[in-house]
Amino acid sequence: MRVQDVRVLELKDVTLLIGDEADQKALLHEATLRFSGPHFCAIVGPSGCGKSTLLKIIAGLHEPTTGSVHWEDRDLSTEGDLAPSEIGYVPQFSIAFDHLDVWENVETAMRLRVRGLDAEQRSERTEHILHEVGLDGIMDRPVGVLSGGQKRRLSLALEMVTSPALMLADEVTSGLDPKAEKEITALMHKISRDENCIVLNVTHSLSHLDLYDSIVVLHEGHIAYHGPTRYLIHYFDVARPEEVFPRLARKSPGSWHRSWVKHRAAYDAPANAELEAAAARHEKVLAAARAANPVVALERVGDTGDLPEHPPSSGLADPCAPAQSYEAACSPLREDRDRPPHHRPPGAVSQFFTLLGRRWKIFRRDKGQFWIHAALVFGFPCLVVIFALEGLPAIQNLDAAPGANPLQQLVEANRYLVQSTSVGSLVSGLVMFQVILLTLMGANNGAREIASERLVFEKEKLGGLRPISYVLSKAAFLFVLVAVQSAWMALFVKLICRFPGDLFQQAGLLFMVNAAMTSVCLGISSLMRSAEQASLVSVYLVGFQLPLSGAVLALPEFLGAASRPFIAAYWSWSGLLQTMKDTRFYEAVQTVTQTGLSPVEVCFWVLGCHVILGLFLAWMGCKHSRWE
Ligand SMILES: Nc1ncnc2c1ncn2[C@@H]1O[C@H](COP(=O)(O)OP(=O)(O)O)[C@@H](O)[C@H]1O
Ligand SMILES: [Mg+2]
Repeated sequence: MRVQDVRVLELKDVTLLIGDEADQKALLHEATLRFSGPHFCAIVGPSGCGKSTLLKIIAGLHEPTTGSVHWEDRDLSTEGDLAPSEIGYVPQFSIAFDHLDVWENVETAMRLRVRGLDAEQRSERTEHILHEVGLDGIMDRPVGVLSGGQKRRLSLALEMVTSPALMLADEVTSGLDPKAEKEITALMHKISRDENCIVLNVTHSLSHLDLYDSIVVLHEGHIAYHGPTRYLIHYFDVARPEEVFPRLARKSPGSWHRSWVKHRAAYDAPANAELEAAAARHEKVLAAARAANPVVALERVGDTGDLPEHPPSSGLADPCAPAQSYEAACSPLREDRDRPPHHRPPGAVSQFFTLLGRRWKIFRRDKGQFWIHAALVFGFPCLVVIFALEGLPAIQNLDAAPGANPLQQLVEANRYLVQSTSVGSLVSGLVMFQVILLTLMGANNGAREIASERLVFEKEKLGGLRPISYVLSKAAFLFVLVAVQSAWMALFVKLICRFPGDLFQQAGLLFMVNAAMTSVCLGISSLMRSAEQASLVSVYLVGFQLPLSGAVLALPEFLGAASRPFIAAYWSWSGLLQTMKDTRFYEAVQTVTQTGLSPVEVCFWVLGCHVILGLFLAWMGCKHSRWE
């Protein structure tokens, strides 16, 4: 007998309050529930009644204000949350990647969440899981083309990679046709048995109740019922399960709660012949009424004013008990099965490489994203050259011819001054143009990178993904983009415009401004609530680069001093012009700019600080939980 195989989840008087003292609201009110596995439970209730909140509390995403959640005698609030491998949480949104196929999604999830498997073991287990969920026939199909039902199967498969003892599913059957809904519900029932786990399924649907071992009815954060599904209509004195929700609306949540507290002991007891008989009587009355007049009968029964007298609290099948008897649950249910050992998530380095590999694969397959980047890499340098074309002869012929006499010398000096002013403006402008275009590319690189997949990341974090691996994988991926963008910009413009100065230093400064902006925008991406918000803030940041750099208009001294440290474009522009220090261009530029230029080394350092600051912000943002 393996007692440890009986998993028990218990909530004791769990309350979650939000708002300040003056305006407090209970999202969940004194919820007391108990489940022991294997068990399949439906959590139902009208929209906004707190179903997802209940799941999030169990998953450890919300800390209860009072009360406690226990797992196998462990108080989760004092002894730490469930290990990532113990819990499977299927959220309302898809966490599969459209550009990967079914196999790749499951295999990658396993790489990220399960430690110590070699390629063959991973492959075997992936095949086994896909067979279990009925996706083995379409393993190589991209997720983007799957049907709704197939996507839900995949969501469940992704959670099965760790063989969790507790599976929480939030509306996985919503929006499916009745056939697919039944299949997915049956699949969850099967998982609860095959994997010996507790599956709690939040659903709007009151169909297929026969597949569940118990049902929780929530009403505005209050538990109105938790018991076997077969007693549901009796408890609410209705003719069909669908009438439960309208019935709920007829009493206050508090009143339902008090009623349930009064009667729940009867539904908790292991066997209750009286309640069984009462339920049978209720069913008999309904059957007779339906036979007499189907329509009227249903209305009459569903319309009763007061609650029925509930039976005394003596004995009834435990709603939360394992679907089989205790002996059966403790018997060698899984004896012949090799449940994988209790895994810790894989190491940070392993997660880093898995994520980096996945990111590259998605980048290569996402044609839209790929071509936008290609267009920017090749289009932006061309834009710089187009603006340089007219001034190129002047740039290349900037020279003062010696004059034969003082008058000629004066004329020549005057011509040189006019020419150098125009060349100085052009060179300074072209350098700034390059810099601004690279900051724009930087914003495009970083702004959506985290924000656009934030919920997926949060879900993966719950499954054991480390924020540091995630941020560094983004940094490594973006490093390559930044390097290609900046190198081509530096080389192409240099070849055509033939600016003097050291190419490596110039390419380095262009790389650094792009990296700085990419990194800061990655930080913004991790701190903002949505990809749109992150893009908007990043675009504003680029917009402020030009006026606040002082390259076009000199800034008031106090403003320049205060803003300059944060304006990446200034440091790159300034450093680039400094690389031309020993040439005529430098003089020409100095005739037109009133803004002081900083030494190249300082520019590199400041831009390096921007990169580090951006990565730090990204890491901080990723550590912070952001489910909404
Ligand atoms: N972070 C939050 N702050 C304030 N209210 C919230 C928050 N999360 C959820 N709610 C509110 O709590 C109630 C329950 O939400 P939820 O659990 O998502 O409902 P549902 O039963 O539809 O899953 C809703 O009224 C919702 O607006
Ligand atoms: Mg919900």
